[in-house]
Amino acid sequence: MNAKKPFTVAAFASGGGSNLQVLIDKQRTGELPVRLAFTLSNNSKALALQRTRDAGALALHVSAKTEGSEAAVAEKMVRLLEEHRVDLLILAGYMKKVPPQVLTAMRNRVINIHPALLPAFGGEGFYGHKVHEGVVARGCQITGMTIHMVNEDYDAGQIVYQESVRVEPRWTAEEVGAAVLKLEHNSYWRVIRAFAVGQIQATESVSPSEAVRIDHEFFASMEFFGS
Ligand code: GRF
Repeated sequence: MNAKKPFTVAAFASGGGSNLQVLIDKQRTGELPVRLAFTLSNNSKALALQRTRDAGALALHVSAKTEGSEAAVAEKMVRLLEEHRVDLLILAGYMKKVPPQVLTAMRNRVINIHPALLPAFGGEGFYGHKVHEGVVARGCQITGMTIHMVNEDYDAGQIVYQESVRVEPRWTAEEVGAAVLKLEHNSYWRVIRAFAVGQIQATESVSPSEAVRIDHEFFASMEFFGS
């Protein structure tokens, strides 16, 4: 047999995993042609792990507690990614910094979603609800989400795709968060599909702005660009 290896992804997640759930659902309907090798979490109680188990995929709790040290965590992550021949590592609400060993092993093949229009409201300290509180506190009239490649610097990798939403007057941070999450659910799986079908390709470049090559067909297929 010489079957082509399916495009293989793994997810790192710490929390609810609603973005991960969309990936699982889209995979099930056949709209997202990927194989989920495993989900890894630093948090044994993460709903993302349960969602993965419910989908019949491998769910792993990996932390300094389970492995003995941060160095051992990094080693285990690299081993898992190599063993499962993962093509793309998807960060889906992973609250810890990805170890440099993982970024080296997976150069230009780690992707993240951030709930704001980077570079605004990004960097260390801007995560979860804090992002939306910041947006409201500054009176932003527009916010959105950013899907970007991951490198050693927080939220600083190449931007792959962004979508925006108007912030209506008097919206609370919760309302902003809900509107942004809707954009996330609509976009993340499409970007991952673009990797799976070759419209977005990782390069070997060490230049952060050239981590991936994005074909015109990708943008043409996305709503935001008026396909
Ligand atoms: C999302 O808002 C994402 O932008 C951020 O973490 C959150 C994850 O949400 N990186 P969920 O766990 O997918 O529900």
